[in-house]
Amino acid sequence: MVDCSILRGDFPEISERGLVFLDSAASSLKPRSVIGSMRVFMESSYANVHRGAYRVSLEASKAYEEAHEVVAKFIGARSWEEVVFTRNTTESIQLLALTLYYNKLIGRGDEIVVTEAEHHSNMLPWARIARIAGARVRMVPVNSEGVPRWDMLEEILSEKTRVVAFGHASNVTGYLSDARSIARKAHKVGALVVLDGAQSVPHVKVDVRELEVDFIAFSGHKMLGPSGIGVLWGKLDFLENLEPPLGGGGTVKRVKLEGGDIKIDWEDPPWKFESGTPPIVEAVGLAKAVEYLESIGMREVEEHERSLTEYTIKSLEELGERVRILGPKDPSRKLGIVSFTMGTLDPSLIGAWLDSYNIAVRTGLHCAHILHDKLGASQGSVRASFYIYNCRDDVDKLRNSLEELVKTLEK
Ligand code: ALA
Repeated sequence: MVDCSILRGDFPEISERGLVFLDSAASSLKPRSVIGSMRVFMESSYANVHRGAYRVSLEASKAYEEAHEVVAKFIGARSWEEVVFTRNTTESIQLLALTLYYNKLIGRGDEIVVTEAEHHSNMLPWARIARIAGARVRMVPVNSEGVPRWDMLEEILSEKTRVVAFGHASNVTGYLSDARSIARKAHKVGALVVLDGAQSVPHVKVDVRELEVDFIAFSGHKMLGPSGIGVLWGKLDFLENLEPPLGGGGTVKRVKLEGGDIKIDWEDPPWKFESGTPPIVEAVGLAKAVEYLESIGMREVEEHERSLTEYTIKSLEELGERVRILGPKDPSRKLGIVSFTMGTLDPSLIGAWLDSYNIAVRTGLHCAHILHDKLGASQGSVRASFYIYNCRDDVDKLRNSLEELVKTLEK
């Protein structure tokens, strides 16, 4: 069981600043162990990686490689070579879309399937690649709760479908899709399955082999790690056969001039996809963050957040019709995200009101404009999102300050 009141002590922004932090879906807070691991590494073992024969560089390279192993184990990958470090989820998906295009796996007349519930990280890269390649993006519509109509997937899939890319959990409604059953349907038409795990990997046990997906993207900063590091995972045989779209330092074994041409012998995965000096310190911090999550257990993390979600929905419903919760209200179908609107009240004003009580929430369209339009919330919403350091008293503070707002509006 997660003891949130004890874990809070590990997070200085809560223990020292008294923040009621309900914005972990945007970026999580960092525990002292993560902050400390990065500081110690920079003070004692920092150097560039894979570029020096001196001891400090070898130590840094080892720590960087070990971080790949830690992440690989965390997501059930077969080997650390399947884990590519990027800057964030957006860059992971961008890198993948470019890779598929460069390797002629997406071309004229092909189709890419996404859903209307995607945040922009998993929509704009595909829209751009489709435009360049002469391909078409097809959308799985959402229902009135903002849940993808997966029952329509088979109608949308065809022999033209090259990619099915979808968010495991919505960053607006928290709805968790059944990734494995979607992957199985997509594979029947030979499509590649790309899972956007930005909102799921930090909060539930994700095993890439159990889910049967081909690629997964997620960010370090949403899972207690630092910003500036993300992950793209893909199966090794696939990565081995793909030419990277971005060349540069660290991506090659040898470059030669042959007959006036530059001939490139690419490195093995993951290095050929990690161009330039990589996020070295951030990798050390991410490995520590994974260690922290594993010490709690992902099943416990999920259970804790689900119970907070249930409590939040119940608490907000007590405020009556003034508050409209977006998305499904059944906590068993959701992760720890509750977005809501309050009539025509500007979400940023609600956010500012909550900030006056030291409560941090996200307001606006949450990089998911189409989903907000479909939910009839075109001016945006207020989003409360949870992590292991949130307890019921945070929800009580949210509820009570919203009740004050309701009373003020009714005066
Ligand atoms: N996609 C992130 C969010 O939902 C940034 O806040």
